[in-house]
Amino acid sequence: MDAIQHALHRSSKHAPQQPTPQELSELKHKYELAGQGQVFTFYDSLNPAEQGALYQQLLGFDPININTITAKALAPAKTEQDGGAPKLEPLPESASASILDSKPEDINRWYAEGLDLIAQNKVAVVLMAGGQGTRLGSSAPKGCFDIGLPSGKSLFQIQAERIRKIEQLAAQKAGPGANVTVPWYVMTSGPTRGPTEKYFKEKNFFGLKSENVFIFEQGVLPCISNEGKILLEGKGKVAVAPDGNGGIYNALVESKALDDMKKRGIEHIHAYCVDNCLVKVADPVFIGFSASANVDIATKVVRKRNATESVGLIVLKNGRPDVVEYSEIDKDIAAEEDPKQPGVLRFRAANIVNHYYSFRFLESIPQWAQKLPHHVARKKIPYADLASGETIKPTSPNGIKLEQFVFDVFPLLELSKFACMEVRREDEFSPLKNARGTGEDDPDTSKYDIMAQGKRWVEAAGGKVASDDAKSGVEVSPLTSYGGEGLEQVAGKNVPVAAALELN
Ligand code: UTP
Repeated sequence: MDAIQHALHRSSKHAPQQPTPQELSELKHKYELAGQGQVFTFYDSLNPAEQGALYQQLLGFDPININTITAKALAPAKTEQDGGAPKLEPLPESASASILDSKPEDINRWYAEGLDLIAQNKVAVVLMAGGQGTRLGSSAPKGCFDIGLPSGKSLFQIQAERIRKIEQLAAQKAGPGANVTVPWYVMTSGPTRGPTEKYFKEKNFFGLKSENVFIFEQGVLPCISNEGKILLEGKGKVAVAPDGNGGIYNALVESKALDDMKKRGIEHIHAYCVDNCLVKVADPVFIGFSASANVDIATKVVRKRNATESVGLIVLKNGRPDVVEYSEIDKDIAAEEDPKQPGVLRFRAANIVNHYYSFRFLESIPQWAQKLPHHVARKKIPYADLASGETIKPTSPNGIKLEQFVFDVFPLLELSKFACMEVRREDEFSPLKNARGTGEDDPDTSKYDIMAQGKRWVEAAGGKVASDDAKSGVEVSPLTSYGGEGLEQVAGKNVPVAAALELN
């Protein structure tokens, strides 16, 4: 049974089981004790299948725990124990590197070490693709989105082809007979799982072997009213939402993705977000840097554009690695210059949610996953009116969704187990967040950033891209080049603009 079928099998839906009267009464009691008995309001009016489904859904939550995490999430952020503002510092040089000013020999060494680890089949990638992409406004998962490249490739396809290429480069380095696999663990959610699986199958896994693609699903949490009550979406269904990209930790355990990694002997993991069209999937430089530093987590960052750019920053907060949101940092502090580099911000490490994990760290998830906080997103949540049973679509936020953030794990680590690598924004970060026409982080900027990079690669290889239009470029297929290498054939040649360049 291959990985996707295996994962599918585990989630296959059997007819929901009806509880015995005693089981039902025990569960009702549990919810009533927690002050959440309203979820059974319509139970008696449901048919047996609906009753079974609601029972099973409610069984999956612990209402006391839901109350606790809601209360904690809603409690105003505590100031630090000493009553003062947290002490923020940039990460020290000992825990940082920058592709912008590292010595070429260091970068080459990390690349070689990372590629060797890939060739030894010790590297896996985890994709976070459970978001609903509300700002983009597409009904399909973001990864299926066609950003308008000449080839028509979607984000999923680009990423899959980068995996194929890095496997090929690692195998070439390892020499004849090498059989290299970088397994791809794709985290989806209730709303994105079905369409993602369908798309991967339709596209024949983009040329990857299906047994090396493990599609799994993150958890959900109930939506809560402004009054702290679990909301029903309909008479027989609790309103739920994916538990945020921090749901990745529990999901890796519960889906058995970690067991699969262990079986394969994986030691190093690259995790990233689906919406970054420039992501260097399983980047050997990053893997080599992180593995040689022997850290448990490393994170890529890009340089903050200016003091007011609204990005989260990787910092040292009270001596621990952490992320601070732009709103949490004092304006004057945000504008401070690095005394060692005039003109460069002191706090400049912009978070792009692009991480390295050691496998030994992910194995310890069960020891700390419960400690991760939940955050509150106030939303308009359709709900069943408890008096009439009718579904109401509110026009203003009526409740909250609870989410975990993937980076809330950072402060669990000692600084010695954490590192940060600054990379070039134009080479590694261009997120797809907004609908076409927004002009910022939208499909056109994604397409442009890929084609501008292709043009830079072609020109660096001695090719010519004849165009006066600064917005035009070349799409270099990931199957041709992972990071600008392998383009010797274009030297001295004219490459047409807007081409989809695929070389043999
Ligand atoms: P965003 O926070 O940008 O959310 O996700 P989104 O769903 O893509 O877009 P909006 O906010 O609804 O417009 C950042 C990354 O985290 C993943 C997303 O798929 C994306 O890769 N994510 C987010 C999850 O995997 N699960 C979640 O529950 C939320």
